[in-house]
Amino acid sequence: MKKETLTLAIDTSCDETSASVVKGLTVLSNVLPSQNELHSKYGGVVPSIAKLAHQERIDAVVDMALQKAKVKMEDVDAIAVTIGPGLAIALEVGINKAKELAIKYEKPLIPINHMEGHLVSSFALQNSKKINSKTQKNTKIHFSSLGLLVSGKHTEIVLVNGIGDYEILGETLDDACGEAFDKCGRLLGFGYPAGPIVAKFAKENRKNYKITQKNLSQSTVVVSKNKNTGSEIELPLSMYNSKDLNFSYSGLKTAFRHLTEELFKNNEALTKEQIIDLCVVFEEAAFRPIIHKLEAAIKTHKPKSILLGGGVSSNLNLRKKLRNLAQKNQIELRLPGSNKLSTDNAAMIGVAANLRALNGKSDAILAVSESLHKIDRMPNLRLSN
Ligand code: KG4
Ligand code: ZN
Repeated sequence: MKKETLTLAIDTSCDETSASVVKGLTVLSNVLPSQNELHSKYGGVVPSIAKLAHQERIDAVVDMALQKAKVKMEDVDAIAVTIGPGLAIALEVGINKAKELAIKYEKPLIPINHMEGHLVSSFALQNSKKINSKTQKNTKIHFSSLGLLVSGKHTEIVLVNGIGDYEILGETLDDACGEAFDKCGRLLGFGYPAGPIVAKFAKENRKNYKITQKNLSQSTVVVSKNKNTGSEIELPLSMYNSKDLNFSYSGLKTAFRHLTEELFKNNEALTKEQIIDLCVVFEEAAFRPIIHKLEAAIKTHKPKSILLGGGVSSNLNLRKKLRNLAQKNQIELRLPGSNKLSTDNAAMIGVAANLRALNGKSDAILAVSESLHKIDRMPNLRLSN
């Protein structure tokens, strides 16, 4: 049997300094000390702060990933590193560290697209005794698939014909879904990232709401009615009726701002009930276009599976909607196995590298200092064949 590749992976694309050791598809360690507390008061990621924090932490994070996996650098077969998309000055820190290790230990270096990592994150197997191996999905991958990537910077539907064979079918034309969660949550006074807090409020008593959809002459809106108080809130379903598979979240953000301005008019703080009302309707407005467009893509491309990835994929309401959609269309749904695999992390980068190696699609560069310049940061890198 072919030996499983042992890869050290590094991701510093945004605000998480992460390193991981992955054997085949099994995650032996996935270290990601959060920088959230550093960026929270600014309501978003500050690139210069992220870069400094990466520089301070990278050596310790890599050491910890090796230690936790009980692996020595000498035993590693390859080093995988995120080259983009992401913040240029943040990506640079991880790439420099990966190059330093590749030269020192004479290991091949594999450049990986961060979005490919999110796309294959659901294939990661967790190496925990607490996890019953029967509950983990089998690793046989049935293509073609539709990838749904929802993160702080991306909202994409991707046709996946195989590992390394990707076509973006639709994407956001302005803000990303996660960004809308963060910005609208900020209007409610939540820190960064606001997505999980919005989700927590929305979840609190969703069953107390009657959610309907209305077709207006030019557009579609979602209406949420609080059954206890009778209060009704309406938000637009942006680009719901466009014939393509693209998204837009800037209109939703503006409409949400108007709603909150109206509520804050009397200079009084919002009640918890009002905050829940807003979070419930916001989530519906954010997710309904995604489900609608994904269903259209399923009809056209008849995929065997859906691959979910990106920070927003930890949202339980989105997961439930996708489960219903997959069941209705009788296709497999693959979800990242934990929140640590949904959000930015290096394990997904190691999994992407090892899947590439397995499928003969690896762009590994041997660690000779003259050739390493070919691996450089690519802040606007897109998924493609
Ligand atoms: O993939 P990710 O960690 O970073 C990027 O590559 O952008 O995604 C982060 C995004 C943030 O916008 C965060 O608010 C959002 O994912 N997020 C959520 C939830 N958990 C994280 N959004 C909605 N519901 C959640 N439970
Ligand atoms: Zn990401």
